[in-house]
Amino acid sequence: MELRLRPGPVRAGGVTLSNHLILAAGILGTTGSSLARVLDAGAGGVVTKSIGPAPCEGHAGPCVIELECGVINAMGLPNPSREFTGELAILAGKPVVVSIFGGSPEEFATVASWFAGLVAGFELNLSCPHAEGYGAALGADPDIVEECTRAVSRYGMPTWVKLTPNVTDITACGRAAERGGADAIVAINTVKAMRISPELRRPVLGHGFGGLSGKAIFPVAVRCVYELYRACRIPIIGCGGIATERDVIEMMMAGASAVEIGTAARDDPAIFSAISSRLYGFGGEDPDSVVGCAHE
Ligand SMILES: Cc1cc2nc3c(=O)[nH]c(=O)nc-3n(C[C@H](O)[C@H](O)[C@H](O)COP(=O)(O)O)c2cc1C
Repeated sequence: MELRLRPGPVRAGGVTLSNHLILAAGILGTTGSSLARVLDAGAGGVVTKSIGPAPCEGHAGPCVIELECGVINAMGLPNPSREFTGELAILAGKPVVVSIFGGSPEEFATVASWFAGLVAGFELNLSCPHAEGYGAALGADPDIVEECTRAVSRYGMPTWVKLTPNVTDITACGRAAERGGADAIVAINTVKAMRISPELRRPVLGHGFGGLSGKAIFPVAVRCVYELYRACRIPIIGCGGIATERDVIEMMMAGASAVEIGTAARDDPAIFSAISSRLYGFGGEDPDSVVGCAHE
């Protein structure tokens, strides 16, 4: 592809990144040293595994199904809760965003309070499709999105809100995040999905259903980013199925100011430097002129 972008720092939703490519939540982000390795491997920023109000082991396995077009996971938000603060010391001053979840605005505020001052920003997981009482269970209701966002944005730190595509109108949730004081919207989390084993005559995943990620959901993510760009004024961070520099450009043309990469980085952490080497070039185009240009 001919189009190249001018390299340089990127400001997205109040966070300064070293390029447009961010590690998505839940992929290679469970320890401080794995996050540091991904930054060293060329990511412009990283999002941690989602951290909640109490330690949790997650769902019974199998938790992941590998498909040709992506992955279906039902991890069930396993996390060490407050203990995770100890992982962040080696990452001080780096573009690290902590993904947090809770079952109410109060729980979101509590978890955020543990991390305020330790990270560059918050990403609110209001979108996980397979954790009862959390994630998309809250994030499908615009009023709750607004309340949870307000409960965290009052800390005055950059606050990103990650939305679910499993709703009729994602723009209603995007506008709610904006009203609650979000600095950016992240779109999208996984698409609710399942497979059944004909041999076993039962669902493959221990949890039954889970969330589809990877190449299969890229067109869904582009559509969501496009709709959100029309409906909202705050920056949008595109996520879902991105695996090449062409995907990054397409997401930016739909309206994304930066992108997150999950499944493709799980397969190959070197993807950040590989995409960067083909995406950027001195004398390249101003990234701001590419963001949202498909709407003109
Ligand atoms: C194994 C796995 C674990 C994930 N864990 C989280 C998580 O803890 N929090 C979250 O907000 N999203 C989580 N996600 C969703 C990703 O961050 C991302 O939104 C989604 O996979 C779509 O992007 P992708 O197609 O590039 O993977 C997870 C995805 C996978 C595949």
